[in-house]
Formats: sequence, structure tokens, C-alpha cells
Amino acid sequence: MPKTIIANWKMSLSLKESVDLAKKLSRDLRSITGHAVVLCPSFPALLPVGQVLAGSKIALGAQDMFWETHGAYTGEVAAGMLQEVGCTHVIIGHSERRNIAGETDAMVRKKVAAAIAAGLTPILCVGEKFQERQEGLKDHVIAEQVRSALEGIAISSAAKLYIAYEPVWVIGSGQAVEPEEAQYTAEVIRQVAVDLFTEYNSASAIRVLYGGSVDAANITSFLRQPDVHGVLVGGASLKAETFSSMIQALV
Ligand code: PGA
Repeated sequence: MPKTIIANWKMSLSLKESVDLAKKLSRDLRSITGHAVVLCPSFPALLPVGQVLAGSKIALGAQDMFWETHGAYTGEVAAGMLQEVGCTHVIIGHSERRNIAGETDAMVRKKVAAAIAAGLTPILCVGEKFQERQEGLKDHVIAEQVRSALEGIAISSAAKLYIAYEPVWVIGSGQAVEPEEAQYTAEVIRQVAVDLFTEYNSASAIRVLYGGSVDAANITSFLRQPDVHGVLVGGASLKAETFSSMIQALV
């Protein structure tokens, strides 16, 4: 089954570093077949990275967006603007936005709806904090995040949607969860989607990803899980050799 590998470069690279990395990856991954690869650079690097990727098999994604289409929203970027620079995907509700920038479930929901309305593919991030996990609330937290982001969204739209399970305490730690846990949580997410969308066929079109300390050593163990349709990679996506070897290992 084809898998999706999404690189989240966060605020880690300069413009030049972003363009250089995109050039190397588009060369190294010229012959990838089946699997989908999406690069998510910082906002200023979207246009030049998109130009590098034009004609390649690698797609462009943003790390965030705003829910309004235009207007007096200083500092914000609309879905249409992202599309103008070549984006097809957008990460929404990453834990760093929820926890550092104070993004709420209500904001995440508006962003998901706006992305879908514009024809962008949202990559909705959900995940529990360590304390929530210690308190046995993990499944509840995940289910609520998924439900609040997706409730009321038209069924047909669900076909173009990724949900990334990213345990907050694991991100950037170098220590991923066990692949079986990613599989279990993917099933939890799928069940919420089935309840929300009632028609299983639509829910099955929702693709679940795992993110959090994915690297060259563990990527295959996650992608081997039947309900994990791909991975969201942060730190390990910043070096061309590492990231392209992770993808080439899947071919
Ligand atoms: P990481 O980040 O791979 O560095 O843990 C993943 C993410 O935050 O999306």
C-alpha cells in the first residue's frame, strides 16, 4: 500500500538551506514510485522551494494557515495565498501551535474547514501530553481533538484528509512510541471518524499518520502497521541523506 511521508521543517532552516535541501531531495527522489512525499518549509521558503519542486513528484505543504480568506488579519496567511505559491497540503493544529501559540480546538476546526473549502489537503495533528497520558486520558484526549476538529465537515470532504497522531511528549525526544501503540491509536482515530461520518467508506478514506521521533531506524516499523498510512517527520527530515534514504528504503 502506498504510504505518505511528510517533512515538517518547522523554523529550522534558512531560505538557502531550504532551497538546497529541496534541490537535493528532488534529485535523490526522482524515481520514487507509489509513495507520496510532502515538504513543509517555513512561509518565506514556500515559493522558492515550490519552484524547485515543480515538475517533481514531491508536493509542497505549509505548516499553518488562517481560516479567513482575506482581510485585516495582520501576520496571518490564507489558504488561497498558500495555493498561489504551489501548496497542496497544510499542517493544522500541530502541538507546537496549540501549546506555544495558544491555538484552541475551535481555531483548529475553523482552519480544517477553511483548508478543505479551498481544496487544500489538511494534515490535522492530534496528540496527548505526558500528564494526560499518566492520568489515563490519552484515548479521550485524542478522540476529543479529532471530534472537535471534524464534526460537521461534509462527508465527501473527508476523503482528502490526513490525521497525524503525534504524542506531544515524544516530539523531538529521539524516543518514539512503540509501533503497536501507533497502530492502536490509529484504530481509535478511525473509530471516531467512523462515528462522525457514519459511512465507513468515507471514514476509510481518512489516512492516519504517526509523528514523533520517526527516524531511519524506526520508519519501517511504523509503516508496517496496517492502519498507519504514513509518517510526519521533523528532525530526521532536515538532512537530505537521512531523509532520502528513509524514503528509498520503502521502495
Ligand atoms: P520530530 O517532530 O520528528 O522531530 O519528533 C515531528 C513533528 O513535530 O511533527
